[in-house]
Amino acid sequence: MLRTVILAAARSSRVERLVQTVPVSRDVVRRFVPGVSTDDALRATRELVAEGLKVTLDYLGEDTQTAEQAAATKDEYLRLLKSLADAGVTAAAEVSVKLSALGQRFDEDLAYEYAHAICEVAASSGTTVTLDMEDAATTDLTLDTVDRLRRDFPTAGAVLQAYLRRTEGDCRELAVPGSRIRLCKGAYSEPESVAFQSTVEVDKSYVRCLNILMSGPGYPMIATHDPRLIAIGEDRAKWFDRSPEDFEFQMLYGIRPEEQHRLAAAGYQVRVYVPYGEQWYGYLMRRLAERPRNLAFFARSLASR
Ligand code: FDA
Repeated sequence: MLRTVILAAARSSRVERLVQTVPVSRDVVRRFVPGVSTDDALRATRELVAEGLKVTLDYLGEDTQTAEQAAATKDEYLRLLKSLADAGVTAAAEVSVKLSALGQRFDEDLAYEYAHAICEVAASSGTTVTLDMEDAATTDLTLDTVDRLRRDFPTAGAVLQAYLRRTEGDCRELAVPGSRIRLCKGAYSEPESVAFQSTVEVDKSYVRCLNILMSGPGYPMIATHDPRLIAIGEDRAKWFDRSPEDFEFQMLYGIRPEEQHRLAAAGYQVRVYVPYGEQWYGYLMRRLAERPRNLAFFARSLASR
């Protein structure tokens, strides 16, 4: 219930304006978002890479409404990729892109063209692109786009959300040689007709999907902070004889950093999803919806002012 309310607020521009005016928001945001500029993103990347972690960078912004905003997002990704290449960190740092930030909601061809341009520069810089997955209304279009991009850039990665009823089937279809699939639980508010609603059902679905991906010929990216699912991931790697180079764990910036380091020290590849930019509102709200304790942290910060 609380999750649904927060996720509804995540899409409300009125609530967004209110939250943005509270100065303390910035302190809370910093826990999950290391900064707003390309330089901030690069600094966080350098720090994480020095700690033995890998990175995927997300320039925050979604549901872009105008062609100018979409072009600005594409340009920022191109700038970021150049900075990563100049800094010599592209072996450890890739980018994550939301098609809605590239204009998918109003011009699918434009979003594809911009995603293609980002993949092109990523490929020439020696790194990869993963297309984030957004709400269920966009799943087919996003998977189609990954499919098209993979013809020119075979390493283009997709995200599958275990809460969707369709995802087990998508895992079967997409677990092909060379595919890179990030498996996450799913962060949006979806109706019962398309998504499992209970934690137990979502977790069971995650394990079924994990079994398919870990036993298949693709490259699974296990995106979760859930200790039980991480342990199952470690177990399946042994069971299916997967070496640590053949899959990776992924977690969000600022969430369970000690676990990120523990897994890296144990010899696993761990990639941290690093969001940056001014448009942090929707991202922060989804993190608050996932964990009521984060909401309490936010409320306490407000109260202490
Ligand atoms: P969940 O939130 O259910 O937490 C399970 C358990 O993990 C908790 O009970 C606790 O033990 C532990 N835990 C979680 N947060 C913690 C914290 N702050 N401190 C300590 N313990 C904590 N979603 C989407 O829809 N599309 C996408 O493209 C992506 N991309 C993506 C990339 C990456 C790298 C990650 C990690 C996640 C995403 N997500 C996403 C978000 C994802 O769908 C999901 O909403 C969050 O990862 C939260 O789900 P968890 O699997 O972490 O479990």
